[in-house]
Amino acid sequence: MDVDTGAGRGADRRKPGAADRRGLRAGLAVATVAAITTAAGAFVLGGQAAAAPTTLRAGAEAAGRYFGVAVGQGDLGNGTATNVAGSQFDMVTPENEMKWDTVEPNNGQFNFGPGDAIVNFATSHNERVRGHNLVWHSQLPGWVSSLSGSQVKSAMEAHITGEVSHYKGKIYAWDVVNEPFNEDGSFRQDVFYNAFGGGAQYIGDAIRTAHAADPDAKLYINDYNIEGTGSKSNAMYSLAQTLLAQGVPLSGIGFESHFIVGQIPSSLQANMQRFANLGLDVAITELDDRMPTPASSSNLQQQATDDANVVKACLAIARCPGVTQWNISDADSWVPGTFPGQGAATMFDTNYQPKPAFTAVLNALNGASVPPSSTSSSSQGANTVTVTNPGSQSGTVGTAIAGVQVLASDSASGQTLTYSASGLPAGLSISGGSGLISGTPTTAGTFPVTVTVTDTTGASGTAAFTWTISGGGSSGACHVQYDKTSEWPGGFTANVTVTNTGTNAITGWTTGFTFPGDQKITNAWNATTTQTGQTVAAANAPYNATIAPGANTSFGFQGTYATNDTNPTAFTLNGTPCS
Ligand code: XIL
Repeated sequence: MDVDTGAGRGADRRKPGAADRRGLRAGLAVATVAAITTAAGAFVLGGQAAAAPTTLRAGAEAAGRYFGVAVGQGDLGNGTATNVAGSQFDMVTPENEMKWDTVEPNNGQFNFGPGDAIVNFATSHNERVRGHNLVWHSQLPGWVSSLSGSQVKSAMEAHITGEVSHYKGKIYAWDVVNEPFNEDGSFRQDVFYNAFGGGAQYIGDAIRTAHAADPDAKLYINDYNIEGTGSKSNAMYSLAQTLLAQGVPLSGIGFESHFIVGQIPSSLQANMQRFANLGLDVAITELDDRMPTPASSSNLQQQATDDANVVKACLAIARCPGVTQWNISDADSWVPGTFPGQGAATMFDTNYQPKPAFTAVLNALNGASVPPSSTSSSSQGANTVTVTNPGSQSGTVGTAIAGVQVLASDSASGQTLTYSASGLPAGLSISGGSGLISGTPTTAGTFPVTVTVTDTTGASGTAAFTWTISGGGSSGACHVQYDKTSEWPGGFTANVTVTNTGTNAITGWTTGFTFPGDQKITNAWNATTTQTGQTVAAANAPYNATIAPGANTSFGFQGTYATNDTNPTAFTLNGTPCS
């Protein structure tokens, strides 16, 4: 669930050659954006396509909102990327260019060139700018951490004053403090927390300092995993109450919204609304919705539903000024470099062509409903195949399902219908001849399923629904135990045991977790570890790739830390959360 907040990944997140590929396809991609957006407009107005907004920015503006995008300096040299960023959006967040390590790499030495380039791009396309960010434990140059407590205080204030003054009048809103909380709702005990003796103290001081430098900019606290209710969101809520009670000029809360497909919190709107009820603005600041790659069509459909639902939640809240997508397209997205095996997280594909999510979001902005996921049909070929949606389904690991019959009809008589399904929970299958889905689920989770029915002429129809499998005693079919085996000033060793609590053998595994502290793995055994910021992926060695049901395997590592060696508590196995 955690997002990587590690520094210095901007440069290496694109595959070699991606820029050349993008360049070649530039003309084609832009032409396709225009064609598809017109189609979406026609859907909304049923024949009055000319009146319906066909870009995200026009749709958002018509609804009194903005639609933003994160743009990095590398994107500015890519004509396809800038075409999309310059036409589809009306707010820009610099992806890395206003972070501390770029802006003030050495004490008192400011470097505004990269940030200025982003502001110039935005201004020349009549777009506003969200400033991101002023105070964050990550992408923080080493010199700050080596200061004494009182020096950290004055360095923080000088940094804020220097940066906010430089951009005075050019920034709609600042993320003044970024990601102040741990997953359990405690404050991250970073240099700022330690220097000021508490979270509310440094955050209040940072916001007051920013306000003094630009009284017209809106001032936000921004974090992830606060989108739904929970301990981290509750902690943000009580921080907001505390700051407001102290008269701190806090304007809003940024909900980053780095989502996993099919896992938008159902409490999103209600949760944002409770912050709005405090008199704060609430913005979606870094939307993406990731999935395993290559993306399946059912996941792309689920993403369309997810993104449209996020936009609808914002539209339903008077104090939600807009939504920002993190990165322009799947070609620029930070996701594949941060969550190995995951991607396809934005509304534009790697060729900058709009995906189903783009159309669904545009329709949501234009006031239309999300494309129906109930009964649907297609007029491919002369015939129409209509599939009756069986609705949401549920089941339990290890218990055979009663059998779900998918029903379909054809506009022509005498056709033989063939049934297929994608995205079914493991252990279930569909009969190609009858459309009966049966079997015994083996893995817990939420599965977006698409059933396709095809007739003899090739005409087809689909129905999409969600299948939720519970059981196995945990959210996933795995359990991970992390034990610190020794610790000394600046160093530690740890042992991690991975147990397969499911009923299927696991062949090939990657265990994921995020260090709450500033640990760095220096060498590992019985697994190959990759660390990005605080996020670690540990992949099996050739000799321990298979874990039989009920069995476990262990790996270990040695690491260093500067100030915080807190054990991680949340783990994934091959992307699925473990207990
Ligand atoms: C990410 C950038 O997209 C990457 O290029 C960089 O290497 C790391 O930071 N939360 C935030 C953003 O607030 O600043 C992060 O951006 C993504 C998570």
